[in-house]
Amino acid sequence: MKSKASAPGKIILFGEHFVVFGIKAILCAIDKRITVTAEKTFDNKITIESNIGNLVADPKTPINKIDSPLRPFYFLADMIIRKQEEKSGLKITVDSEIPLGVGLGSSSACCVAGAAAISGIFEKKSKEEILQMAIEAEKTIFPNTSGADCTVCLYGGLIQYDKKNGYSRIDSEPNFELVIANSKIEHSTKEVVSNVKQFKEKNEERFSKMCTQENELIEDVLVCLKNNDLKCIGRNLIKNQKYLEIIGVSNEKLRNMIEIATKYSFGAKITGAGGGGCIFALTDENNREKTIHQLKENEYDCFSVKIDFRGLDTF
Ligand code: MEV
Repeated sequence: MKSKASAPGKIILFGEHFVVFGIKAILCAIDKRITVTAEKTFDNKITIESNIGNLVADPKTPINKIDSPLRPFYFLADMIIRKQEEKSGLKITVDSEIPLGVGLGSSSACCVAGAAAISGIFEKKSKEEILQMAIEAEKTIFPNTSGADCTVCLYGGLIQYDKKNGYSRIDSEPNFELVIANSKIEHSTKEVVSNVKQFKEKNEERFSKMCTQENELIEDVLVCLKNNDLKCIGRNLIKNQKYLEIIGVSNEKLRNMIEIATKYSFGAKITGAGGGGCIFALTDENNREKTIHQLKENEYDCFSVKIDFRGLDTF
């Protein structure tokens, strides 16, 4: 028996880094998906095949012995088959439309689709149960994850998140399109987050003022989203990028990409940790193609996405 599920990637629209210090962030699911197929096998092995490599391991291997980016899948498979009375193996196949490891939510989408596909072989779980499993799985690679990424990948649409209040859905359906460009510079989220912490410690007063400004900006964006006011959202993207520049998570290449992308779009900024990874520009049907053309002319890899309102899909 085969069980299949797919989940969307995500981007952080506003608030990365400041969210670590208690400010609200706004995230949205994007219409690029990861599909996971799981099937029972009789070889008593856990086998995972993906475009970032393969893994074959025995069930009940301690999780810290699984040295692979596919560890969350192993965790889910092992946890689920341990609960079954009958001994069995599992084969898991992963297909991704999302570039991996560039801040577009590939790991959260893997965890959500993986939890649904693997558990789906044995029993139907509720969305809340799948979310809990997915967050546990993501913790095997990002122990401090807030759970916001898995949440937006599971439910789709837009969410707001802060450390104190957790996440809640934003009930608006703005009609923008995002042009995402990949700097192809590798980055370590852990390292960039630690540099920001150092910046904060050296500049307490300035940082605290920026947190207040970021907070006001986010509240303004929530109103702009309700009104589908793309110009207002774009202005705030440009403002937010300035704060990211000040805290030191940008670099020359990212600045150049943002400058090019801002020319025709409503605004552009880094998404995620920065230091590398991706930037995005806010567009609609009138300026999307020009923005893409301009980035491609400058030899930057880019593609456009819309908000995904489907979230997790099971087949
Ligand atoms: C990384 O995608 C987002 C950061 O805000 C870190 C975090 O929230 O854990 C930079």
